[in-house]
Amino acid sequence: MSQRTLTILKPDSVAAGKAGAILAHLEREGFRIAGVKKIRLAPEQARAFYAVHRERSFFGGLVRFMTEGPVIVAALERADAVPHLRTTMGATDSQKAEAGTVRNLYGTDIERNAIHGSDSPENAAKEIAFFFAEAELI
Ligand code: RTP
Ligand code: MG
Repeated sequence: MSQRTLTILKPDSVAAGKAGAILAHLEREGFRIAGVKKIRLAPEQARAFYAVHRERSFFGGLVRFMTEGPVIVAALERADAVPHLRTTMGATDSQKAEAGTVRNLYGTDIERNAIHGSDSPENAAKEIAFFFAEAELI
């Protein structure tokens, strides 16, 4: 059964001109792009999107990072999309991400790590709805 997940190509990878390479990497992994857009997150949007982390020491830095420049958000589809995207991304800390993963290839450290992926099917549905109307997904 095909599943949907949400990815965000973060400001670091977009500014570095790696968005196309990362989308190609995701397509090679069998993800189909159901919807995609380039946006600049407002601080309030970034705070809402990562609200689960609001008490963490890194929250302020995370919001600053996610709003420093444009991002590309995409709804992706494939079998087991949520776990497969997490595997394709690699560990949160780019320095510890497995060889050949998106974060290993394009990330810098634990914060500037190139890409976001939903961590559960429930959160994927919420995160997709955060950025896309159902009619925008094909
Ligand atoms: P994401 O939600 O972006 O896919 O990342 P993740 O699940 O791998 O990691 P999570 O724990 O959800 O953290 C969200 C993002 O916050 C930044 N972060 N900075 N300075 C730090 O210690 C730290 N820890 C996390 C990263 O950008 C991380 O992806
Ligand atoms: Mg997360």
